[in-house]
Amino acid sequence: MNLKNWKKIKLSGVKVFLRAIRKSDAPRIFELINNRKTTFFLESVDAPVTLKQEKEFIVQAEKAWKSKLKFIFAIIDQNTGQSIGCCEVGSYDATNRRASFGIWIGKPYWRHGFGFEAAVLAFQFGFETLKLNRIKYRYNLLNTRSKKLTQKIGTKFEGIERKTTLKRGKFYDSVVTSMLADEWKQKSKKIKKQILNLEK
Ligand SMILES: CC(C)(COP(=O)(O)OP(=O)(O)OC[C@H]1O[C@@H](n2cnc3c(N)ncnc32)[C@H](O)[C@@H]1OP(=O)(O)O)[C@@H](O)C(=O)NCCC(=O)NCCS
Repeated sequence: MNLKNWKKIKLSGVKVFLRAIRKSDAPRIFELINNRKTTFFLESVDAPVTLKQEKEFIVQAEKAWKSKLKFIFAIIDQNTGQSIGCCEVGSYDATNRRASFGIWIGKPYWRHGFGFEAAVLAFQFGFETLKLNRIKYRYNLLNTRSKKLTQKIGTKFEGIERKTTLKRGKFYDSVVTSMLADEWKQKSKKIKKQILNLEK
């Protein structure tokens, strides 16, 4: 996969595919992100978000793709061709071959297996395209959906960061988990198979 042609990258699963976020995603992403339940567990954004802010976010995301700092994907429903959320391989550190993972799915699309599949595709991109050695996934201690996602994908618990996120006037603890390249190698076949079984 050639990162220079990042606009052409398409990571295909069964239910969803990932491609770089682009300007035309703004109205749809704007509509989905404007939900207080969806953004409660997101660290860098909270609803209400304006369309102008969303467009600026995408401009910055495109710059980050160009400079290979951060890789923000739109998650697209294979059936409808519509964007249903975003995920990212961020904080990319090529020297130490590490990055972090983040994700959100629009509320109407929760609990359909989209999040899991998008996460698998992003981890695959991280380990197999970027050749990362480590991917970190950090989530709010209260976020049971993220906890389930990490259990399904198999990231390992590392610890708790105390009062690390300020949300709506309150500080929250975060759980830090990670996966290493060796672990991905061992698990990836089984994980990819799991996606196919979910489809049946
Ligand atoms: C966390 C989040 C990304 C999870 O995404 P999701 O698409 O709902 O997750 P999945 O559907 O893949 O998995 C969740 C559950 O749905 C189940 N599921 C999968 N396919 C299913 C199907 N066809 N029918 C019903 N349930 C299904 C999964 O088994 C899992 O169930 P479990 O609770 O029994 O384990 C999503 O809830 C979200 O965006 N939340 C708000 C933002 C957020 O918290 N982001 C993470 C910040 S770190």
